[in-house]
Amino acid sequence: MIPTIETITALEILDSRGFPTVRVTVALDDGSVGTASIPSGASTGENEATELRDGDATRYGGKGVLQAVENVTGEIAAALEGMDATEQAAIDLAMIELDGTENKSRLGANAILGVSQAVARAAAQSCGLPLYAYLGGVGARHLPIPMMNVINGGKHADSSLDFQEFMIFPLGAPTFAEALRYGSETFQALKKILHAKGYATSVGDEGGFAPQLKGGNEEACELIVAAIEKAGYVPGQDIAICLDPAATSFYEDGKYRLTRSRQGDKTAAEMVELYQSWVNEYPIVSIEDGHAENDWAGFAQMTAALGGSIQIVADDLVVTNPKFIARAIEEKAANAALIKLNQIGTVSETIDAIHLCRKAGWGFVISHRSGETEDSFMADFAVAMGGGQIKTGSVCRSERIAKYNRLLEIEAELGSAARFGA
Ligand code: PGA
Ligand code: ZN
Repeated sequence: MIPTIETITALEILDSRGFPTVRVTVALDDGSVGTASIPSGASTGENEATELRDGDATRYGGKGVLQAVENVTGEIAAALEGMDATEQAAIDLAMIELDGTENKSRLGANAILGVSQAVARAAAQSCGLPLYAYLGGVGARHLPIPMMNVINGGKHADSSLDFQEFMIFPLGAPTFAEALRYGSETFQALKKILHAKGYATSVGDEGGFAPQLKGGNEEACELIVAAIEKAGYVPGQDIAICLDPAATSFYEDGKYRLTRSRQGDKTAAEMVELYQSWVNEYPIVSIEDGHAENDWAGFAQMTAALGGSIQIVADDLVVTNPKFIARAIEEKAANAALIKLNQIGTVSETIDAIHLCRKAGWGFVISHRSGETEDSFMADFAVAMGGGQIKTGSVCRSERIAKYNRLLEIEAELGSAARFGA
């Protein structure tokens, strides 16, 4: 029997920052149901698919999503009802065509992705499969290494840090569960170190600490190394460091302005030198968005200088869009891509983006957004896509932990069939 879409409903809910977002529920004629809630970024790339907001200043400061909800329950539902729910690509394409714009601005990427993900969930249930197995097939048994953002700066916190994310990466752990334990213990050790130094231990949007460090960006790396050691691990061997400076957020008038840390203005080449010196000093294995979203030359310079030894991840530069990923591959602007479902707006286009990365020998990192919900779709999606790496925040705040807990469940369910790491 073909499981067809019977009803599609939607609701305006709140994300982890307390801003409205879209939740979609898809019901099939065989009784299967799938629900998905959509996250939202703060340091968004200018070429991302459009998140539709009402702009009505009398509700949520203009951030309401009632129009997106209406688009789901009206136009999209009318177009998709009766379709075979297992035909994900056809369903996504029908929505892309119905929208008719380049970046999904008419119906909203939040509306379209909500339906796309909810359809996948409902179809998985109809097939009697967990989501990771439905999307990834019998080979979906590789758990990703988590990049855990333990110190927040930039647009995610009012800290003294220009750089947005300082992450720990337990690459030496034997299993995902152990990796999570390494990360949690290091996070707790870091808390004690910060406290002893008189720094605040309150957290930013992604659950990392957001202290006013006197030594700026470098001190963040020093403290993380100290925390790794205090927790009993070997920096670089058990746990490495990954950075996401999110450089677009401090790029102004052709200069990288390290204002918060009082390190002055830098050119693209000087940023490469700075990163090089940090890579020499600290166990850094990955740098994402070291340059601004339109600085293709800076990215290429960075990849030429450091791409042989560490991972250079493009996020805002390529926005999970196969068109930009293809250009970045061509121009050797990075050697890995960040993958965010809501940057492109459908499940099948996201899979296309990952396919391109694989073909080019690039790495890929499945990522959350700074504004998240309790939805753990991306955890299943990471396993379905063959593991690799996942970036889903620190080891606190339930909207982050929901993804980690789901990965623990998947690893336990797979038992001895589970594999860990890239
Ligand atoms: P965002 O940040 O979700 O606020 O865009 C995440 C990132 O830059 O990777
Ligand atoms: Zn980023």
